[in-house]
Amino acid sequence: MSQHILVAVAWPYASADIHVGNVAGSYLPADIFARYHRLKGNHVLMVSGSDAHGTPITVKADAEGLPPVEVFQRYHADFVSLFQQLGLNYDLFTSTHTENHAKVSQAIFLALNENGFLYPEEQQQWYSPALKRFLPDRYVEGTCYICGYEQARGDQCDNCGNILDGTQLINPRAKTDGSTPELRKTSHFFMDLAKLQDQVVDFLEARQDYWRPNVVKRSLGWIKAEGLRGRPITRDLDWGIPVPVEGWEDKRLYVWFEAVIGYLSAAIEWAQLNGEPDAWHKWWTDPKARAYYFIGKDNIDFHAIMWPAQLAGVGEQFTRIFANETGKPLNLPYDVPANEFLNMGDRKISGSQNWGVWVLDFLTRYDPDALRYYITVNMPETRDANWDWDDFVARNNNELVANWGNLVNRTLSFAHKHWNGHFPDAGDLRPQDKALLKKIEAGFESVAAELEAVHLRAALNEAFRLATETNKYLEDQAPWTQIKTDKPAAGQTIFTAIKAIDNLKLLLAPFLPHTAEQLHHILGYKQPLFGEQYTQSVSDDLGERIALRYKTGAAIGAWLPSQLQPGKFFNPPVPLFKKLEPEIADQERARLGH
Ligand code: MF3
Ligand code: ZN
Repeated sequence: MSQHILVAVAWPYASADIHVGNVAGSYLPADIFARYHRLKGNHVLMVSGSDAHGTPITVKADAEGLPPVEVFQRYHADFVSLFQQLGLNYDLFTSTHTENHAKVSQAIFLALNENGFLYPEEQQQWYSPALKRFLPDRYVEGTCYICGYEQARGDQCDNCGNILDGTQLINPRAKTDGSTPELRKTSHFFMDLAKLQDQVVDFLEARQDYWRPNVVKRSLGWIKAEGLRGRPITRDLDWGIPVPVEGWEDKRLYVWFEAVIGYLSAAIEWAQLNGEPDAWHKWWTDPKARAYYFIGKDNIDFHAIMWPAQLAGVGEQFTRIFANETGKPLNLPYDVPANEFLNMGDRKISGSQNWGVWVLDFLTRYDPDALRYYITVNMPETRDANWDWDDFVARNNNELVANWGNLVNRTLSFAHKHWNGHFPDAGDLRPQDKALLKKIEAGFESVAAELEAVHLRAALNEAFRLATETNKYLEDQAPWTQIKTDKPAAGQTIFTAIKAIDNLKLLLAPFLPHTAEQLHHILGYKQPLFGEQYTQSVSDDLGERIALRYKTGAAIGAWLPSQLQPGKFFNPPVPLFKKLEPEIADQERARLGH
């Protein structure tokens, strides 16, 4: 029975380079999960895009003296290139700066409004008479009213770490020109979260048994401690999505309110690009579909509380407003397997301090599967983890190369040499051969169980345990000795090992897709394992941009034990992985200049 699975991946702000922490937090786990489900034969829709609006983009634009749209376009192009190189198979990676996303976001806003979950209210906000505009919290600096730190920002104090009420800053000044702002009244739409609190609590409690404890405890704890209160969902800005209400032309939707709507708008855009405008319903309004949200822990509140509240509040009204359809509720998240952080030397990765590993740069020197491997074995699923260059080299050499790469290489080279490029004839397999294959084939259950529970680190360990078993089997059988006295026995051993490798190839494919595809080809398969990534230029009234797309492959449903037959021809093997010199760890640290 195949399922519809929405793989919803965090939207990177189009204002900062992507580092290994971002990849470990959400992008890579999402791709591993999506690839597994495609192999398993499920209907996956994996969507995301560049988060183009909000103050992170305007602050960057101001700093560079560029219009925000140019900053967004530059980073967006980098993200597409990075994801393509790393092999992240998004069905659609788009952006929030599209006409479609604006329409969908406005329809969600109107649906909430019609259902009585929005209300306008006056608020105090810093206004700069010199600049003649309201200043977002991030644009105001002053003295922290909690700790006295003089460089606190309106949204947060970097010294004491507290989230601040910007209006209480002492000695406020505008970040851009140092001028003194004054408090003025401004109206905003608020989302009435108090009215939605019961629905959100029910939603969370119904999922407690299988959600990661950190995610569900934190969310319920937060609601129980503070209770949900109204939150403003509009801002005094000119970069962003207009508020669809007369008289509100100067305001924009709050970036977090609209960015999460991207999961829905991207599914709709994907359906439209494919010429099947209704296809998104299979993931969004069929209650049997499951939606998994891959995010970092800093985004938990927005995905486990705010977005479910938005969806619950919209109810059946979105489908009516957006497409004049009969009302159907939108699916709530099935799981939000948020990861903790990947740090470096126990310090948070930071672009401004040049402390981290930047992925586009990394990929100019190393292979994508080496990165995918190291990040997965270190995945911060239950606690923060660390990037360590010595450890990267050691694990690459001792695990990826020594355990898996050498197993493949020595087995296939030996077979190619002694059986002229054909899989040896095995006759009836011996008990020890059958015993090995039984163990390996059990991986289609055991690795799958870990993958489905989003225990990706455990899933990879389990697959590697089976590679170790295969290495042990080869040591015990010693085909390099057998070949001298009993070639048929050596043939049975090698055929069994090749079949184990063919199975391991699939078990490892979600994690190591590039080398799995290479090995698949070496083993003589004609159809590729995975589909194809490609870019497509899309344009609308907001401009032209590149979308990253995915075309489903032939091997959907390939998650089954190997059917490889003796006697078949295969291609000469090439090493799948590169051994790394220990010196590179020092070189990489030196690059950071710390
Ligand atoms: N841009 C946000 C960040 O980088 C993440 C947004 S996820 C979304 O933290 F769903 F809200 F878009
Ligand atoms: Zn402070």
